[in-house]
Amino acid sequence: MAAATRGMRLPRAGHGISVLTAAPSVLQQHRQVHHAVIPHGRSGRSSVSGIVATVFGATGFLGRYVVNRLGRIGSQVVIPYRCDQYDLMYLRPMGDLGQLLFLEWDCRDKDSIRRAVEHSNVVINLIGKEWETKNFRFEDEFVNIPQSIAQISKEAGVEKFIHISHLNASMKSPSKYLRNKAVGEEAVREEFPDAVILKPSEMFGREDRFLNHYANMRWFGGVPLVSLGKKTVKQPVYVVDVAKAIINAIKNPDAKGKTYALAGPHRYLLYDMVEYIYAVAHHPFIPYPLPRPLYHLVARFFEMNPFEPWLTRDKVDRFHTTDMTFPDLPGFEELGIEPTPLEQKAIEVLRRHRRFRWLDAELEEAKPKTQPM
Ligand SMILES: NC(=O)c1ccc[n+]([C@@H]2O[C@H](COP(=O)([O-])OP(=O)(O)OC[C@H]3O[C@@H](n4cnc5c(N)ncnc54)[C@H](OP(=O)(O)O)[C@@H]3O)[C@@H](O)[C@H]2O)c1
Repeated sequence: MAAATRGMRLPRAGHGISVLTAAPSVLQQHRQVHHAVIPHGRSGRSSVSGIVATVFGATGFLGRYVVNRLGRIGSQVVIPYRCDQYDLMYLRPMGDLGQLLFLEWDCRDKDSIRRAVEHSNVVINLIGKEWETKNFRFEDEFVNIPQSIAQISKEAGVEKFIHISHLNASMKSPSKYLRNKAVGEEAVREEFPDAVILKPSEMFGREDRFLNHYANMRWFGGVPLVSLGKKTVKQPVYVVDVAKAIINAIKNPDAKGKTYALAGPHRYLLYDMVEYIYAVAHHPFIPYPLPRPLYHLVARFFEMNPFEPWLTRDKVDRFHTTDMTFPDLPGFEELGIEPTPLEQKAIEVLRRHRRFRWLDAELEEAKPKTQPM
Protein backbone atom coordinates (compact mmCIF):
# COMPACT_ATOMS: atom_id res chain seq x y z
CA MET A 1 0.00 0.00 0.00
CA ALA A 2 2.73 2.41 1.01
CA ALA A 3 4.52 1.60 -2.21
CA ALA A 4 1.39 2.35 -4.17
CA THR A 5 1.08 5.86 -2.73
CA ARG A 6 4.77 6.74 -2.58
CA GLY A 7 5.05 7.35 -6.28
CA MET A 8 1.89 9.45 -6.52
CA ARG A 9 2.20 13.10 -7.54
CA LEU A 10 -0.98 14.74 -6.37
CA PRO A 11 -1.53 18.48 -5.95
CA ARG A 12 -1.12 19.41 -2.31
CA ALA A 13 -3.14 21.93 -0.39
CA GLY A 14 -1.38 25.05 0.87
CA HIS A 15 0.58 26.35 -2.12
CA GLY A 16 -0.44 29.97 -2.13
CA ILE A 17 -3.01 30.57 -4.90
CA SER A 18 -6.70 30.60 -4.12
CA VAL A 19 -8.95 29.23 -6.83
CA LEU A 20 -11.48 31.92 -6.02
CA THR A 21 -9.07 34.72 -6.83
CA ALA A 22 -7.29 33.05 -9.72
CA ALA A 23 -10.28 31.86 -11.74
CA PRO A 24 -13.99 31.31 -11.26
CA SER A 25 -14.21 27.86 -9.72
CA VAL A 26 -16.99 25.34 -9.75
CA LEU A 27 -16.21 24.74 -6.10
CA GLN A 28 -16.14 27.13 -3.19
CA GLN A 29 -12.58 26.37 -2.09
CA HIS A 30 -11.61 27.20 1.45
CA ARG A 31 -8.27 25.45 1.21
CA GLN A 32 -5.53 26.93 -0.93
CA VAL A 33 -4.68 24.76 -3.88
CA HIS A 34 -1.86 23.92 -6.20
CA HIS A 35 -1.82 25.63 -9.63
CA ALA A 36 -2.37 22.23 -11.22
CA VAL A 37 -6.00 22.32 -10.16
CA ILE A 38 -6.84 25.92 -11.12
CA PRO A 39 -9.50 25.57 -13.83
CA HIS A 40 -8.12 26.34 -17.28
CA GLY A 41 -8.51 25.14 -20.85
CA ARG A 42 -11.58 24.84 -23.04
CA SER A 43 -13.16 21.91 -21.31
CA GLY A 44 -12.49 18.36 -22.52
CA ARG A 45 -10.14 15.68 -21.26
CA SER A 46 -6.98 17.78 -21.68
CA SER A 47 -8.25 20.80 -19.75
CA VAL A 48 -8.29 21.27 -15.99
CA SER A 49 -11.71 21.45 -14.32
CA GLY A 50 -10.39 22.23 -10.86
CA ILE A 51 -11.98 19.09 -9.50
CA VAL A 52 -9.82 16.48 -7.77
CA ALA A 53 -12.24 13.72 -6.91
CA THR A 54 -11.78 10.47 -5.02
CA VAL A 55 -14.32 7.93 -6.26
CA PHE A 56 -14.84 5.00 -3.89
CA GLY A 57 -16.54 2.15 -5.74
CA ALA A 58 -15.30 3.34 -9.15
CA THR A 59 -14.98 -0.26 -10.36
CA GLY A 60 -18.75 -0.83 -10.10
CA PHE A 61 -21.65 -0.28 -12.49
CA LEU A 62 -22.23 3.42 -11.77
CA GLY A 63 -18.52 4.07 -11.10
CA ARG A 64 -17.39 3.77 -14.70
CA TYR A 65 -19.91 6.39 -15.85
CA VAL A 66 -18.89 8.76 -13.08
CA VAL A 67 -15.16 8.39 -13.78
CA ASN A 68 -15.75 8.91 -17.50
CA ARG A 69 -17.81 12.07 -16.91
CA LEU A 70 -15.17 13.43 -14.52
CA GLY A 71 -12.37 12.56 -16.94
CA ARG A 72 -13.99 14.21 -19.90
CA ILE A 73 -14.23 17.60 -18.19
CA GLY A 74 -10.54 17.34 -17.26
CA SER A 75 -10.66 16.32 -13.61
CA GLN A 76 -8.11 14.44 -11.60
CA VAL A 77 -9.65 11.26 -10.28
CA VAL A 78 -8.25 9.18 -7.45
CA ILE A 79 -9.52 5.61 -7.76
CA PRO A 80 -9.14 3.46 -4.66
CA TYR A 81 -9.45 -0.19 -5.66
CA ARG A 82 -9.20 -3.63 -4.13
CA CYS A 83 -9.39 -5.79 -7.25
CA ASP A 84 -6.73 -7.08 -9.61
CA GLN A 85 -5.04 -4.29 -11.62
CA TYR A 86 -6.15 -5.95 -14.86
CA ASP A 87 -9.79 -5.68 -13.80
CA LEU A 88 -9.67 -1.89 -13.95
CA MET A 89 -7.90 -1.50 -17.28
CA TYR A 90 -11.13 -0.26 -18.89
CA LEU A 91 -11.03 2.83 -16.64
CA ARG A 92 -7.57 3.93 -17.78
CA PRO A 93 -8.53 5.64 -21.09
CA MET A 94 -11.24 7.68 -19.35
CA GLY A 95 -8.87 10.45 -18.28
CA ASP A 96 -5.96 12.33 -19.81
CA LEU A 97 -2.44 11.04 -19.18
CA GLY A 98 -1.67 11.15 -15.45
CA GLN A 99 -5.15 12.36 -14.50
CA LEU A 100 -6.38 9.03 -13.12
CA LEU A 101 -4.56 7.86 -10.03
CA PHE A 102 -5.09 4.30 -8.89
CA LEU A 103 -4.58 3.52 -5.25
CA GLU A 104 -4.89 0.20 -3.47
CA TRP A 105 -7.03 0.55 -0.34
CA ASP A 106 -8.62 -1.42 2.43
CA CYS A 107 -11.96 -0.16 3.69
CA ARG A 108 -11.09 -1.20 7.25
CA ASP A 109 -7.77 0.65 7.28
CA LYS A 110 -8.45 4.30 8.13
CA ASP A 111 -4.96 5.34 7.01
CA SER A 112 -5.62 4.02 3.53
CA ILE A 113 -8.89 5.99 3.39
CA ARG A 114 -7.01 9.09 4.57
CA ARG A 115 -4.37 8.64 1.87
CA ALA A 116 -7.12 8.36 -0.73
CA VAL A 117 -8.96 11.55 0.25
CA GLU A 118 -6.32 13.91 1.60
CA HIS A 119 -5.52 15.59 -1.73
CA SER A 120 -9.07 15.79 -3.06
CA ASN A 121 -11.67 18.51 -2.94
CA VAL A 122 -14.50 16.10 -3.79
CA VAL A 123 -15.18 12.61 -2.43
CA ILE A 124 -17.83 10.38 -3.97
CA ASN A 125 -19.00 7.23 -2.21
CA LEU A 126 -20.40 4.56 -4.54
CA ILE A 127 -19.55 1.59 -2.33
CA GLY A 128 -22.22 -1.08 -2.29
CA LYS A 129 -22.94 -4.77 -2.67
CA GLU A 130 -26.19 -6.52 -3.57
CA TRP A 131 -25.48 -9.48 -1.31
CA GLU A 132 -23.85 -10.05 2.05
CA THR A 133 -20.64 -12.02 2.47
CA LYS A 134 -19.09 -13.39 5.65
CA ASN A 135 -16.55 -10.56 5.54
CA PHE A 136 -18.90 -7.72 4.68
CA ARG A 137 -22.47 -7.50 5.94
CA PHE A 138 -24.87 -4.79 4.73
CA GLU A 139 -24.08 -2.87 7.94
CA ASP A 140 -20.46 -2.65 6.78
CA GLU A 141 -21.25 -1.78 3.18
CA PHE A 142 -23.89 0.86 3.80
CA VAL A 143 -23.22 2.20 7.29
CA ASN A 144 -19.70 1.58 8.64
CA ILE A 145 -17.69 2.16 5.46
CA PRO A 146 -19.60 5.33 4.38
CA GLN A 147 -19.36 6.63 7.94
CA SER A 148 -15.58 6.16 8.05
CA ILE A 149 -15.14 7.77 4.64
CA ALA A 150 -17.36 10.73 5.60
CA GLN A 151 -15.60 11.23 8.91
CA ILE A 152 -12.10 11.10 7.42
CA SER A 153 -13.13 13.33 4.50
CA LYS A 154 -14.42 15.92 6.96
CA GLU A 155 -11.17 15.81 8.93
CA ALA A 156 -9.17 16.14 5.71
CA GLY A 157 -11.04 19.34 4.75
CA VAL A 158 -12.79 17.91 1.69
CA GLU A 159 -15.18 20.47 0.15
CA LYS A 160 -17.86 18.22 -1.22
CA PHE A 161 -18.95 14.78 -0.15
CA ILE A 162 -21.40 12.93 -2.37
CA HIS A 163 -23.07 9.82 -1.02
CA ILE A 164 -25.26 7.46 -3.04
CA SER A 165 -28.15 5.98 -1.13
CA HIS A 166 -31.33 4.42 -2.54
CA LEU A 167 -34.75 5.88 -3.33
CA ASN A 168 -36.50 3.28 -1.16
CA ALA A 169 -34.09 3.49 1.78
CA SER A 170 -36.30 3.14 4.83
CA MET A 171 -36.13 1.71 8.32
CA LYS A 172 -39.48 0.04 7.67
CA SER A 173 -38.44 -1.76 4.50
CA PRO A 174 -38.58 -5.57 4.43
CA SER A 175 -35.18 -5.45 2.70
CA LYS A 176 -32.12 -5.37 4.97
CA TYR A 177 -30.21 -3.62 2.16
CA LEU A 178 -32.73 -0.75 2.19
CA ARG A 179 -32.89 -0.55 5.99
CA ASN A 180 -29.13 -0.19 6.15
CA LYS A 181 -29.17 2.39 3.39
CA ALA A 182 -31.50 4.47 5.59
CA VAL A 183 -29.17 4.16 8.60
CA GLY A 184 -26.22 4.97 6.33
CA GLU A 185 -27.84 8.23 5.19
CA GLU A 186 -28.13 9.37 8.81
CA ALA A 187 -24.60 8.26 9.68
CA VAL A 188 -23.17 10.20 6.73
CA ARG A 189 -25.20 13.33 7.58
CA GLU A 190 -23.95 13.16 11.15
CA GLU A 191 -20.30 12.97 10.12
CA PHE A 192 -20.52 15.35 7.17
CA PRO A 193 -23.57 17.64 7.57
CA ASP A 194 -22.97 19.31 4.17
CA ALA A 195 -22.91 15.99 2.31
CA VAL A 196 -24.99 15.73 -0.85
CA ILE A 197 -27.09 12.56 -0.69
CA LEU A 198 -28.46 11.18 -3.95
CA LYS A 199 -31.24 8.61 -3.81
CA PRO A 200 -31.57 6.85 -7.18
CA SER A 201 -34.20 4.22 -7.86
CA GLU A 202 -33.12 0.97 -9.55
CA MET A 203 -30.68 1.96 -12.30
CA PHE A 204 -30.71 0.55 -15.80
CA GLY A 205 -27.85 0.56 -18.28
CA ARG A 206 -25.76 -1.93 -20.24
CA GLU A 207 -24.13 -3.58 -17.23
CA ASP A 208 -27.16 -3.39 -14.91
CA ARG A 209 -28.51 -6.11 -12.64
CA PHE A 210 -32.10 -5.03 -13.23
CA LEU A 211 -33.27 -5.27 -16.87
CA ASN A 212 -30.59 -7.92 -17.52
CA HIS A 213 -31.78 -9.85 -14.46
CA TYR A 214 -35.36 -10.03 -15.69
CA ALA A 215 -34.27 -10.82 -19.26
CA ASN A 216 -32.09 -13.69 -17.98
CA MET A 217 -35.06 -15.23 -16.16
CA ARG A 218 -36.12 -16.79 -19.46
CA TRP A 219 -33.55 -19.54 -18.80
CA PHE A 220 -35.77 -20.69 -15.93
CA GLY A 221 -38.78 -21.18 -18.17
CA GLY A 222 -40.73 -18.06 -17.16
CA VAL A 223 -40.77 -15.02 -14.94
CA PRO A 224 -41.89 -15.57 -11.33
CA LEU A 225 -43.42 -12.42 -9.86
CA VAL A 226 -44.93 -11.90 -6.42
CA SER A 227 -48.68 -11.16 -6.98
CA LEU A 228 -47.82 -11.33 -10.67
CA GLY A 229 -46.10 -7.93 -10.32
CA LYS A 230 -49.48 -6.19 -10.22
CA LYS A 231 -48.92 -4.68 -6.78
CA THR A 232 -45.48 -3.20 -7.38
CA VAL A 233 -44.79 0.06 -9.17
CA LYS A 234 -41.29 0.83 -10.44
CA GLN A 235 -39.73 4.07 -11.68
CA PRO A 236 -36.27 3.02 -12.96
CA VAL A 237 -33.60 5.59 -13.72
CA TYR A 238 -30.92 5.64 -16.42
CA VAL A 239 -27.42 5.20 -15.00
CA VAL A 240 -25.97 7.99 -17.17
CA ASP A 241 -28.52 10.44 -15.72
CA VAL A 242 -27.33 9.55 -12.21
CA ALA A 243 -23.68 10.07 -13.26
CA LYS A 244 -24.65 13.46 -14.73
CA ALA A 245 -26.47 14.31 -11.49
CA ILE A 246 -23.27 13.61 -9.53
CA ILE A 247 -21.25 15.95 -11.76
CA ASN A 248 -23.91 18.69 -11.59
CA ALA A 249 -24.13 18.32 -7.81
CA ILE A 250 -20.36 18.89 -7.65
CA LYS A 251 -20.65 22.03 -9.76
CA ASN A 252 -23.72 23.42 -7.99
CA PRO A 253 -22.76 25.27 -4.79
CA ASP A 254 -26.42 25.21 -3.65
CA ALA A 255 -26.44 21.41 -3.55
CA LYS A 256 -24.48 21.26 -0.29
CA GLY A 257 -26.40 19.59 2.50
CA LYS A 258 -29.30 18.57 0.26
CA THR A 259 -30.85 15.18 -0.45
CA TYR A 260 -31.99 14.51 -4.01
CA ALA A 261 -34.52 11.87 -5.11
CA LEU A 262 -33.53 10.59 -8.54
CA ALA A 263 -36.12 8.56 -10.42
CA GLY A 264 -36.97 8.09 -14.07
CA PRO A 265 -39.71 10.08 -15.80
CA HIS A 266 -42.32 7.26 -15.87
CA ARG A 267 -43.80 4.81 -13.38
CA TYR A 268 -44.68 1.26 -14.50
CA LEU A 269 -46.45 -1.69 -12.94
CA LEU A 270 -43.74 -4.33 -12.49
CA TYR A 271 -45.83 -6.67 -14.66
CA ASP A 272 -46.00 -4.12 -17.51
CA MET A 273 -42.31 -3.35 -17.25
CA VAL A 274 -41.22 -6.99 -17.44
CA GLU A 275 -43.65 -7.60 -20.31
CA TYR A 276 -41.98 -4.71 -22.13
CA ILE A 277 -38.51 -6.14 -21.40
CA TYR A 278 -39.53 -9.38 -23.11
CA ALA A 279 -41.11 -7.53 -26.03
CA VAL A 280 -37.86 -5.63 -26.62
CA ALA A 281 -35.75 -8.76 -26.17
CA HIS A 282 -38.05 -10.63 -28.61
CA HIS A 283 -38.72 -13.54 -26.26
CA PRO A 284 -42.10 -14.93 -25.18
CA PHE A 285 -43.23 -13.47 -21.85
CA ILE A 286 -44.35 -16.28 -19.52
CA PRO A 287 -45.13 -14.75 -16.13
CA TYR A 288 -46.44 -16.76 -13.20
CA PRO A 289 -47.34 -15.73 -9.67
CA LEU A 290 -45.05 -17.00 -6.94
CA PRO A 291 -45.86 -16.45 -3.26
CA ARG A 292 -43.11 -14.55 -1.44
CA PRO A 293 -42.17 -17.41 0.97
CA LEU A 294 -41.74 -19.78 -1.96
CA TYR A 295 -39.73 -17.15 -3.86
CA HIS A 296 -37.50 -16.81 -0.76
CA LEU A 297 -37.00 -20.57 -0.74
CA VAL A 298 -35.81 -20.48 -4.36
CA ALA A 299 -33.55 -17.51 -3.51
CA ARG A 300 -32.00 -19.46 -0.60
CA PHE A 301 -30.84 -22.02 -3.12
CA PHE A 302 -29.06 -19.34 -5.18
CA GLU A 303 -27.58 -17.83 -2.00
CA MET A 304 -25.46 -20.97 -1.59
CA ASN A 305 -23.33 -19.70 -4.48
CA PRO A 306 -20.08 -18.56 -2.82
CA PHE A 307 -19.38 -16.06 -5.62
CA GLU A 308 -22.10 -13.80 -7.02
CA PRO A 309 -25.55 -15.19 -6.16
CA TRP A 310 -27.93 -14.53 -9.03
CA LEU A 311 -30.84 -14.10 -6.65
CA THR A 312 -31.11 -13.44 -2.92
CA ARG A 313 -34.10 -13.14 -0.57
CA ASP A 314 -33.20 -9.51 -0.11
CA LYS A 315 -33.25 -8.91 -3.86
CA VAL A 316 -36.71 -10.47 -4.09
CA ASP A 317 -37.95 -8.00 -1.46
CA ARG A 318 -36.15 -5.02 -3.01
CA PHE A 319 -37.44 -5.71 -6.51
CA HIS A 320 -41.00 -6.09 -5.19
CA THR A 321 -40.91 -2.80 -3.27
CA THR A 322 -42.92 0.01 -4.85
CA ASP A 323 -40.72 3.04 -5.61
CA MET A 324 -41.44 5.87 -3.19
CA THR A 325 -42.22 9.38 -4.36
CA PHE A 326 -40.74 12.42 -2.65
CA PRO A 327 -42.59 15.53 -3.85
CA ASP A 328 -40.73 17.65 -1.26
CA LEU A 329 -37.21 16.60 -2.22
CA PRO A 330 -35.33 18.18 -5.13
CA GLY A 331 -34.62 15.90 -8.06
CA PHE A 332 -33.22 15.92 -11.58
CA GLU A 333 -34.95 19.17 -12.48
CA GLU A 334 -33.08 21.09 -9.76
CA LEU A 335 -29.83 19.63 -11.11
CA GLY A 336 -30.70 20.73 -14.65
CA ILE A 337 -31.17 17.23 -16.06
CA GLU A 338 -34.06 15.81 -18.06
CA PRO A 339 -34.32 12.13 -17.09
CA THR A 340 -34.22 9.59 -19.92
CA PRO A 341 -37.27 7.32 -20.38
CA LEU A 342 -36.77 3.57 -20.22
CA GLU A 343 -38.31 3.24 -23.69
CA GLN A 344 -35.44 5.26 -25.16
CA LYS A 345 -32.54 3.19 -23.79
CA ALA A 346 -33.94 -0.30 -23.07
CA ILE A 347 -32.88 -1.52 -26.51
CA GLU A 348 -29.22 -0.70 -25.73
CA VAL A 349 -29.39 -3.04 -22.74
CA LEU A 350 -31.62 -5.74 -24.18
CA ARG A 351 -30.41 -6.15 -27.76
CA ARG A 352 -27.80 -8.66 -26.60
CA HIS A 353 -30.62 -10.88 -25.27
CA ARG A 354 -32.18 -11.19 -28.74
CA ARG A 355 -31.68 -14.13 -31.04
CA PHE A 356 -29.59 -13.38 -34.11
CA ARG A 357 -32.56 -13.13 -36.50
CA TRP A 358 -34.18 -10.43 -34.37
CA LEU A 359 -31.05 -8.37 -33.70
CA ASP A 360 -32.12 -5.43 -35.88
CA ALA A 361 -35.90 -5.80 -35.56
CA GLU A 362 -37.80 -2.55 -35.15
CA LEU A 363 -39.52 -1.68 -31.90
CA GLU A 364 -42.62 0.10 -33.16
CA GLU A 365 -45.21 -2.00 -31.28
CA ALA A 366 -43.57 -2.41 -27.87
CA LYS A 367 -44.49 0.30 -25.40
CA PRO A 368 -45.05 -0.23 -21.70
CA LYS A 369 -48.21 1.09 -20.02
CA THR A 370 -47.31 3.85 -17.60
CA GLN A 371 -48.87 4.59 -14.21
CA PRO A 372 -49.93 8.02 -12.96
CA MET A 373 -47.16 9.84 -11.04
N1 LIG B 1 -27.43 -0.55 -9.12
C1 LIG B 1 -28.55 0.04 -8.76
O1 LIG B 1 -29.59 -0.15 -9.40
C2 LIG B 1 -28.59 0.98 -7.58
C3 LIG B 1 -29.77 1.64 -7.28
C4 LIG B 1 -29.79 2.53 -6.21
C5 LIG B 1 -28.64 2.74 -5.46
N2 LIG B 1 -27.50 2.06 -5.77
C6 LIG B 1 -26.30 2.32 -4.98
O2 LIG B 1 -25.37 3.02 -5.79
C7 LIG B 1 -24.04 2.65 -5.45
C8 LIG B 1 -23.32 2.14 -6.69
O3 LIG B 1 -24.07 1.07 -7.22
P1 LIG B 1 -23.44 0.06 -8.30
O4 LIG B 1 -24.58 -0.63 -8.94
O5 LIG B 1 -22.44 0.78 -9.13
O6 LIG B 1 -22.70 -0.99 -7.33
P2 LIG B 1 -21.70 -2.15 -7.77
O7 LIG B 1 -21.68 -2.33 -9.24
O8 LIG B 1 -22.03 -3.32 -6.91
O9 LIG B 1 -20.27 -1.56 -7.33
C9 LIG B 1 -19.98 -1.38 -6.01
C10 LIG B 1 -18.57 -0.88 -5.84
O10 LIG B 1 -18.26 -0.90 -4.44
C11 LIG B 1 -17.05 -1.61 -4.25
N3 LIG B 1 -17.08 -2.32 -2.98
C12 LIG B 1 -18.12 -3.01 -2.47
N4 LIG B 1 -17.79 -3.50 -1.27
C13 LIG B 1 -16.53 -3.09 -1.02
C14 LIG B 1 -15.64 -3.26 0.07
N5 LIG B 1 -16.00 -3.96 1.15
N6 LIG B 1 -14.40 -2.72 0.00
C15 LIG B 1 -14.04 -2.02 -1.09
N7 LIG B 1 -14.83 -1.81 -2.16
C16 LIG B 1 -16.07 -2.33 -2.12
C17 LIG B 1 -16.97 -2.60 -5.39
O11 LIG B 1 -15.64 -2.99 -5.56
P3 LIG B 1 -15.28 -4.40 -6.26
O12 LIG B 1 -15.47 -4.17 -7.72
O13 LIG B 1 -13.87 -4.64 -5.87
O14 LIG B 1 -16.25 -5.40 -5.68
C18 LIG B 1 -17.51 -1.74 -6.54
O15 LIG B 1 -16.50 -0.90 -7.03
C19 LIG B 1 -24.17 1.59 -4.35
O16 LIG B 1 -24.07 2.21 -3.11
C20 LIG B 1 -25.58 1.05 -4.55
O17 LIG B 1 -26.10 0.55 -3.35
C21 LIG B 1 -27.44 1.19 -6.82
